[in-house]
Amino acid sequence: MPTIRDVARVAGVSTSTVSHVINETRFVSPETRARVLETMKTLKYSPNRLASSLRSNQTLTLGVLLPNSANPFFAEILLGIESTCFDRGYNFILGNANDDPKRELDYLRVLISRQVDGILLISTGSYDESIAFLIEQQVPVVVVDRAPGIESVTEIFTDNKRGGLLATQHLIELGHTAIACITGPSFLTPSAERVAGYKQAMNLAGLHVYDDWIVIGDFQHSSGYVACEQLLALDHPPTAVFACNDLMAVGALCAIHEAGLRVPDDISIIGYDNIPLASYTIPRLTTIAQPAREIGNLAVMRLIDALRSDEGCAARECLPVNLVKRDSCKALT
Ligand code: RIB
Repeated sequence: MPTIRDVARVAGVSTSTVSHVINETRFVSPETRARVLETMKTLKYSPNRLASSLRSNQTLTLGVLLPNSANPFFAEILLGIESTCFDRGYNFILGNANDDPKRELDYLRVLISRQVDGILLISTGSYDESIAFLIEQQVPVVVVDRAPGIESVTEIFTDNKRGGLLATQHLIELGHTAIACITGPSFLTPSAERVAGYKQAMNLAGLHVYDDWIVIGDFQHSSGYVACEQLLALDHPPTAVFACNDLMAVGALCAIHEAGLRVPDDISIIGYDNIPLASYTIPRLTTIAQPAREIGNLAVMRLIDALRSDEGCAARECLPVNLVKRDSCKALT
């Protein structure tokens, strides 16, 4: 079995240089790095992670906790996390809280017991308790997507209020004035901010927002279906609907179809997230795109930065969103 010493000898460097290349703990010139990696491949050397972790007190393993791994938006974030972890020589252990705050806390305990070096947390909404626990346990954490604005913690999120504004303004520009909103859980910051953006757009256009045009969903397909049924049953149903995520928009598309109505001829629908499915619904879904893979990439980079710097450098980073026009919205005739 080749050892780190064999790699160093063949590559013509010291064993500490080989270790720095493996763990990225110090700059190594690109030429030397390439020669060491090539030698590792030639000798079929794989680092003994357990041995190195005992020496360096790092496992090069991150904990990743998702609120609901069945939601394709989080699958896209995970692709960004996985790709960046692989490039940076890290592994990760994945937990799914299944939208259950208690399970979220249980998983945090499990991840800490597995000696992860740090945690990427997309919370079910029980941020305060989870983040307080991680701070108490002195575990480095980057909070992703659902960002409560806790000063001492690094947060990576997107401009949700602007996203809600863009979605609603798109419908207003098409001539719609009776515009409804299917929200996500009101305790989740992304949903609350998108609804604020919806209201801002309506107010800027001088349009009244009727209470029964705002229906609370839970970010799942079924809640979009039920909420849309409720909207269609109104005495004055809306001519357009902004759903605060694509899964609820897909549920709404189904409800409209089963009511014998057509999208966009009878009612326009816009979603949020730009999950891959949005390109394959009939009609294809107009939506607000979040840079999911970039969110995952940046979250890993910031956590590794935190692991490698002594001083705590919490930061809040807000990524932009953009309107993706497809076929589910039409001008009011
Ligand atoms: O679709 C799931 C939603 O929850 C997304 O919009 C994402 O922003 C998360 O908050």
